[in-house]
Amino acid sequence: MQERMHVLILGSGGREHALAWKISQSPLCSKIFVAPGNSGTSNIAQNIALDLRDFESIVQVILKFHIQLVVVGPEEPLVAGVCDYIKERLKASAPMLIGPSKASAILEGSKVFAKNFMKRHHIPTADYKVFNQDEYDEALQYLKSAQQPYVIKADGLAKGKGVRITHHQSEAIEVLDSFFKEGVLGDSGKQVVIERFLEGKEFSFFVLLDGKSWKILPSAIDFKYAEDGNMGALTGGMAAVSPVPFLSKNFKDRLLKDVVEPTLAGMKKENLMYTGFLYFGMIQVDGKPMVLEYNVRLGDPETQCILPLLKSDLLALLCAAAKQELSSSRMRHVRKSAMALVLASSGYPHKYKIGFPITGVNLITDALLFHAGTHLNKENMHETAGGRVLSVVSVGENFTGILPHLIKEAEKIRFEGVVYRKDIEKYIQ
Ligand code: GLY
Repeated sequence: MQERMHVLILGSGGREHALAWKISQSPLCSKIFVAPGNSGTSNIAQNIALDLRDFESIVQVILKFHIQLVVVGPEEPLVAGVCDYIKERLKASAPMLIGPSKASAILEGSKVFAKNFMKRHHIPTADYKVFNQDEYDEALQYLKSAQQPYVIKADGLAKGKGVRITHHQSEAIEVLDSFFKEGVLGDSGKQVVIERFLEGKEFSFFVLLDGKSWKILPSAIDFKYAEDGNMGALTGGMAAVSPVPFLSKNFKDRLLKDVVEPTLAGMKKENLMYTGFLYFGMIQVDGKPMVLEYNVRLGDPETQCILPLLKSDLLALLCAAAKQELSSSRMRHVRKSAMALVLASSGYPHKYKIGFPITGVNLITDALLFHAGTHLNKENMHETAGGRVLSVVSVGENFTGILPHLIKEAEKIRFEGVVYRKDIEKYIQ
């Protein structure tokens, strides 16, 4: 019998609340710490205020609270090398770590690397060209000869602002200017990928890796547009559903054969394998799976609806992954459907105000509620603290009726400027 353990989750979003919720159900868990967390995680875990860029403070938390397993939620610390830092500092006494090294996180941290990796390993993806800041004229020429819509991707991490799709050449040139000339994304925008626009159905596919073998998590669709009708700005995600309704057995077999297996084989060949989650940002084009991007973590808000569909003990799976014993574990999925609806602050993903009181949290009795941009004020009341504030999640036999039910639950929550999508059901086929 394995001893019960202290788990540290790094991050403060809905994804991290959902991870804490699922891990807290494990008999292997004795206590969860979330750093920095939100007001939802404080109900099931101990929040620890720290800056995720300050790796030494993370090490101090690991030492102080005798942490045995760390799950890294967001991409920034992964790409900046948090796992390497912890391993290097604590050597043999380092906890089990769920997240890649900095070297492997380049799959998410550099779009240029990811596209070239796909090309090297014959993984289906959109045709593309790479330009750096010194090649502004060549990039301009290429844009002028390209067909609209124009897809321009900044190389580095950009908090969701790095991928721009436009139908007008003049706007595409403005995007290029903003990256190369105005430096709006700093170093992240010093190289760009300009790629062919793919028309199709987007979806997300997740695997848990142990460095040698892997297990499949429930799949999901993420609804990125801020407004109904798939209008408005592209966000980190305003809703998600799981599983992907069009992921038939044949299509999944093809996805595994054409994308997942060659990606993992390529990672092994290039020494990029790791312990953690790999998220394939996918699109189905004429029945064919094509890769839009790789992420080296779970998605948000996808996690909020995939974890309620996971029957297995997540903490046991994470321990197995850390010990390279995943091949003898089973990842069991519940054969139901889940939907997560994000309640956001008006103005998100651009300018929005925070600090508004949130009421109605206790009235959510018929759905799961995951916090994201929330915190507790001096009077111990929930307050908005971010763009994506909460997500309500419901699980049903199928998708029929889930959205109206979630909207009814969402209506119980009040804060100034609350916005959410009300039409995603019509995009699920
Ligand atoms: N929902 C998109 C992401 O997590 O990257």
